[in-house]
Amino acid sequence: MEEYTKEILLPRDEIQQRVRELALEISKDYEGKELILVGILNGVIFFFTDLVRNLHIPIKLDFIRAASYGAGTESSGTIRMSKDVEIDIEGQHVILVEDIVDTGLTLSKIKEKLLERGPKSVKICVLIDKRERRQTQVPIDYCGFHIEEGFIVGYGLDFNERYRDLADIFVLKEKEPSN
Ligand code: IMP
Repeated sequence: MEEYTKEILLPRDEIQQRVRELALEISKDYEGKELILVGILNGVIFFFTDLVRNLHIPIKLDFIRAASYGAGTESSGTIRMSKDVEIDIEGQHVILVEDIVDTGLTLSKIKEKLLERGPKSVKICVLIDKRERRQTQVPIDYCGFHIEEGFIVGYGLDFNERYRDLADIFVLKEKEPSN
């Protein structure tokens, strides 16, 4: 039996429109510069591909795989990095692309690691900035949407690896117990 219900938060058209706007902003800011976009797997997949395809500048791309969550909606507090960037980022402009920032631990740890390799700059682009549980202040340079709270799924975001494939973004809610 399903214990959760989904309520739509961001319809696909709204997401696509915002992603195009972000891509335009990045294209303007990095015009004439060399840029490497680094996506943080797995949740970022759809956001990353949509963003990259809407850029008007040449880029290189790579991925990091990190997980801060076990099975559930609470952060485990530890970041596990099982895939690192393979492109040499020394002297390069980098944008880290993430689906959602929650406590901020994942992005601040990854940014710290990348900065050790001497890039010219490292900026952060997130689709969703969720503010309620922030534990560390990490500067977000490009942000699609702000939300205060809630656990969301769809457009790459999962709950126990489910719902990533949905084209819209939903808030996941526990079902009211029935009598
Ligand atoms: P942070 O380290 O707490 O900022 O966590 C970032 C990661 O937690 C994201 O990349 C997601 O994998 C996961 N996460 C945080 N909030 C949500 C959510 O509402 N839905 C799905 N995943 C989330």
